[in-house]
This record gives sequence, structure tokens and C-alpha cells, in this order.
Amino acid sequence: MIHEALVKRGTVFSKRPKNQQRGPDHVAIVFGNGASWKELRKFISHTFHHLCFRKTGYTLEARITEELTYFTKKLMTFNNKNVNISHIVTLSLTNVIYSILHGRRAGYDDAKLKLYLEKQTEGFKVHVRTQVLNACFPFLHYLPGDLLNEKVRDTAIKRIVKYFDDICRYHYENYKLGDDNCFLDLWIAAKENNDLFRKVNLWAVLNDLMAAGSETTATTMKWVIIALAKNPYIQKKLQRKVDEVIDKGKSPSISDKMNLPYVEATILEALRFGSAVPLSVPHAVLHDTIFKGYKIPKEATILPNIFSVHFDPDIFPEPDAFRPERFLDEAEASIIRSEKLIPFSLGPRSCLGETLARMELFLYVTTLVQKLEFRAPDDVELPSLKGVFGLTRRPQEFKVKIRIR
Ligand code: HEM
Repeated sequence: MIHEALVKRGTVFSKRPKNQQRGPDHVAIVFGNGASWKELRKFISHTFHHLCFRKTGYTLEARITEELTYFTKKLMTFNNKNVNISHIVTLSLTNVIYSILHGRRAGYDDAKLKLYLEKQTEGFKVHVRTQVLNACFPFLHYLPGDLLNEKVRDTAIKRIVKYFDDICRYHYENYKLGDDNCFLDLWIAAKENNDLFRKVNLWAVLNDLMAAGSETTATTMKWVIIALAKNPYIQKKLQRKVDEVIDKGKSPSISDKMNLPYVEATILEALRFGSAVPLSVPHAVLHDTIFKGYKIPKEATILPNIFSVHFDPDIFPEPDAFRPERFLDEAEASIIRSEKLIPFSLGPRSCLGETLARMELFLYVTTLVQKLEFRAPDDVELPSLKGVFGLTRRPQEFKVKIRIR
């Protein structure tokens, strides 16, 4: 049904609901609509493609690999300790997208980035609450008091705008004609002769890409880590496969992917099992429409339930078991693709960062398995693999014991 709505009738089902858009003028890509959304989507897609396949300078792969050297070094400082790595995983994946946008990492001690992440989390929490209340009781907006937490949200947004204004000012001052090293370079170049780019708030685009591109991949990586700590035989098998293909002293690269189907299967299983964006991002219908015999009025909100597909036992037997083998053929030599695995959603609105996310997940999982081992901590049990629902679906807080291999 999701395929039928979002793909076959993608034009009608690919709007974002209006009630997402109340508040200061900060509609960019994720909640954008119409011609400006289409043009921005095209620009971002071309830019990522350019940065991915460029022949000279930093490619996306090089940026991820660079970040991974810092990340593994940091994790190695926790050798033989029981640690909650949630924050550092988020910081690391935020640094990847930061580096793609700005051309350099921010690092782990950047106070401004830390404050930004705090404000973003605050904004996220309020956003979800506001979104539901706003959809059910829109009149609350007109009553006295801050019943929809709109003031809290707006204060968080002001801080976020200032954060991006500061770093963009630095970038503009240092930009030289012809620079094409990162997203911002290409934005500045495009702005010269495109009206849309002058009208759209750059901070809102950067904020969308930072938000969409960090928490999602970080959450999926946290699912991988807890699943490996809970299933040592999967971890051992991964280690064996990675050691067979990549020399110990060599950093994994994307070209290793085709020789590592078990790594790929583990990532597919983490994308299914984690279902990091369980209800996708809300869609809306463009005009009144009939779907499966139901009349859906113009602007009605549609929540594609990705989680329900990934946990349907008729599609994925024993869905509560973390089992990479379900995506492998009998000889465990090739991947069995399933069109029912839809973590990035479908259709014209599907995830713009899918290629980047798949690249990140492959390089992160392979590098971590090559260099480290994750075990259940000595003092406390790992929690169950029951997820915590929100805009993202994350594992419960956990500690792992890290060992350098
Ligand atoms: C495992 C990681 C990720 C998952 C599971 C994921 C999943 C999703 C989903 C389900 C949507 C909503 C699609 C819809 O409305 O139907 C989405 C949208 C989006 N994602 Fe991702 N995402 C991931 C990583 C990324 C990354 C790394 C980026 C890079 C910046 C990114 C950028 C975006 C953008 C810009 C949109 C909005 C697209 C639009 O409205 O046109 N995502 N993602």
C-alpha cells in the first residue's frame, strides 16, 4: 500500500502537511513544498553526487574515512571500560555531515556544535509534541500561554540561526571563486545566478541536512553496536569475514563492499530492525483523492508506517530476531534484496541522503569490527532490543565494554 501511494501515486501523496510549517520562515527541504522544494532537492542531489564522485580533492568517502580515524582513536581510549557511547556516536556522525557541508570537521570539543546539538534535541522534542497537538487541536495556537510550546521552539530556532550565521560568515569571507570542496562552496557559486538561492534561508537548508543526516545514521549505528554486543556469534562471524578480505593495517574502502556480503546483510538487518525513522516524515495529499475506497481530503496528513512493514512476520519471519542471514542466499555469497525493506521510504520524497548513509554505514561497521570488539558490560545487563519510539526509533540507553582487537 505504501508503494502504491508514494510511488504509483507519488505526485498526489508527496506533499508535506501545512501544519508542519507554522512558525518563523524556515521552510527548506524536509518540510518544503512546490517548485522551491523541487529545485532545492535537485540541487542537493547533484551536489552530493558531485562531492561523491569528484576526481580530485576530498570525496565523501575520504571525509568519512577521515572522521573514522578520529572516532576509532576516541573509542580506543575506552579500552576495557564499560561505556555509554551514544553521545560520541552522534558527535562522530554529525562531524561527517558537518565536514561535507563546511569542508572541515568541527571536532568533538567544539562548544558551539555541542550547544547546537542540545538546541536541536530540544527543538526535536518540542517539534514532535507540537506537531501532534497542532494536528489534533490547532485552536491551541490562538489561546493565551504557550500551549503548543511554540515560544520554546522559536527560542531554540533563534540560537540555531545564530550558530549557522556565524559559521557561514566565516565561510563567505574565505570563499574563493571556483572553490568546490564542500556543499557551502557549491551553494555560494549557485547563488550568484539563481533567484531561489537568494530567497531561501541558507541556515534552514544546512539545519535540515545536519538534522536529517546525523541522528538517523547515528541511531542505526547504535542499533548495530547493541545488536553485536548481544549476539557475539554475529560479531565473530563479521570479524572473520572482514579479516579475510581486508589486511589488518589497511583502512576499509567502499570497493571492499562487493567482497563482504555478510557486512552488507548485517547493515540491511540493522536498517530493518532499527527502523530508525519508523513513521517516515509526514506526507500530505495534494488534492481530494480516493485511495483503496477511502476518500482522503486535500491536505490530510499521511504517515507511512515503515515499522509495520519491517516487523510484519509474513514478510520478515521472526521479525524480533536480529538475523543478517535473512538477506543472504544459502551459500551466504550474495545478497537477497527485498523490495519490502524501505528504511529510506519511497517515491519522490524518499531520503535524499540514502547513498551517503549506505556509504557511512558500510565504512563505520567494517572499520569498527576490524579494530574493536563490543561486549556486554561486566556490571550491568544489556537492555532488551525493544526500541524507544520518537521521530526516530532508537535503542534503549546502554553501556558496552570495548576491547581493542
Ligand atoms: C540510516 C540513515 C537514514 C535513514 C533511515 C533515513 C530515512 C529517511 C526517511 C524515512 C525520510 C522521509 C522520506 C519521506 O518523506 O517519505 C528521509 C528524508 C530525508 N532524508 Fe534521510 N535518512 C537517513 C540518512 C540521511 C542522510 C545521511 C541525509 C543527508 C543529509 C538525509 C537527508 C534527508 C533529507 C534531506 C530528507 C527529506 C527529503 C524530502 O523531503 O524531499 N538522510 N530520510
